Amino acid sequence: MKNILAIYPGSFDPVTNGHLDLIERGAKIFDRLVVSILRNFDKEPLFTVEERAEMLREVTRPWPNVEVDLFSGLVVEYARLREAKVLLRGIRAVSDYEYELQMAMMNRKLNPDVETVFMMPAVKYSYLSSRLVREIAQLGGSITDLVPPVVEERLRAKVL
Ligand code: PNS
Repeated sequence: MKNILAIYPGSFDPVTNGHLDLIERGAKIFDRLVVSILRNFDKEPLFTVEERAEMLREVTRPWPNVEVDLFSGLVVEYARLREAKVLLRGIRAVSDYEYELQMAMMNRKLNPDVETVFMMPAVKYSYLSSRLVREIAQLGGSITDLVPPVVEERLRAKVL
């Protein structure tokens, strides 16, 4: 019996309903899913990695086969250490594809044992991104329906 561990890497600053949709899909397909937050995020983050991990742990509690972790360095090296065979990435629109393909091919070159698997979130999340959520929250717009309630609360507190 195969026991497939998949890693869903990203910055998750913050986790959105689009990410959660993908986590739900991934948790159904793979035996175990590790949502892994990149530590050395070069852009100026809104939430610290610890805050992002706390929010992710809270919103992924319904799935017993989903774990939240942090990583630094190359994602394929982290996958090797975790003995994961799959990297899960979401593709919302054709515009995501070029960058995702480039990363998938480079990751394959770096470690041919790790397979990138793309999944599509529900269409209603196809225009959703953490960057837009941060911007809308900072400018006082409504982010209800875009992020889980715990993230909405934390965002409101952060931008007050
Ligand atoms: O949510 P994001 O910001 O699109 O996630 C990008 C992420 C974290 C998956 C990507 O930047 C990454 O894997 N970084 C780790 C460093 C690495 O392995 N770089 C080479 C990728 S080809």
